Amino acid sequence: MLPGRAGRTITVMTPSEPSESFQIPLEAAEAYEAVFVPAFFAQWAPILCDTAAVGVGQEVLDVACGTGIVGRTAAERVGPANVVGVDLNQAMLTVARRVRSDIDWRQGDAAALPLADRSFDAVLCQMALMFFPDRIRALREMARTATATGTVAVLVPASLNAQPAYGPFVDMAAQHAGREARSLLNTYFTCGDLDDLSDQFGQAGLHVTATGTHHGTARFPSVDALVATEVESTPLGERISAEVHDRIKHGAREVLTPFTAADGTLAAPFEAHVIAASRGRLVRRRRR
Ligand SMILES: C[S@@+](CC[C@H](N)C(=O)[O-])C[C@H]1O[C@@H](n2cnc3c(N)ncnc32)[C@H](O)[C@@H]1O
Repeated sequence: MLPGRAGRTITVMTPSEPSESFQIPLEAAEAYEAVFVPAFFAQWAPILCDTAAVGVGQEVLDVACGTGIVGRTAAERVGPANVVGVDLNQAMLTVARRVRSDIDWRQGDAAALPLADRSFDAVLCQMALMFFPDRIRALREMARTATATGTVAVLVPASLNAQPAYGPFVDMAAQHAGREARSLLNTYFTCGDLDDLSDQFGQAGLHVTATGTHHGTARFPSVDALVATEVESTPLGERISAEVHDRIKHGAREVLTPFTAADGTLAAPFEAHVIAASRGRLVRRRRR
């Protein structure tokens, strides 16, 4: 789901990487905005904004904003002056600024947001929580920057076993490339258990107010393009032989047949969870 560095490994999104190394070249960020935002990321942004009831008069924060699709969607509702986007990646922010220069895009780590306490009515985070090395710390930061009545809303891919296209694809790839392939290709789906996620929100001092599951589509010009994205843009691409890679390509054409049109384009169904929360309930002590 992410653009490779000229078809090579992007380690920027893997959770084991230290924050400082989360940098990608500008052309990868431009490809993300031109190809992956319309084909995949844009569809979720209105869902996330609706979940947090983003509306006129609110201040909105987009955490791990990437090239800014959530911030731009929120800006249509609240105006650009009321939106801030934060991401670790300078290249993503350069593209965000090129596309929408009237929004405040800032570099920062989700685990240490460069923003004051209680500043935002809606703190949003789309398709990124699974990449944070310390998710609870990031959720605590989101809670800290939300106003007392504010909402923190996070959207993540559902688990692999709920994904009708990616599930069989990863099973097939693991048959050819082994267990390591499963764990690498599973990275995207590691926040997909709603109970676990709700528990993590609780640990971060957040009180879950709503959860939901939404169905979307990951579009690719061909099955080979999906394989190139999913295999070549993860460390897996460098760890398998050309022969194994070929077997995965052929296997993908087979398992993804139900989602492939006559012209070869792929529309892979995709399930995502959204979870909304408020800052933990205030416990008031009775005066004696
Ligand atoms: C898959 S992209 C999603 C971007 C955007 N939310 C969207 O929906 O298009 C994941 C983003 O998370 C950012 N990211 C990863 N770890 C981060 C961290 N610790 N702090 C801030 N941003 C981070 C990456 O730089 C990348 O832009």
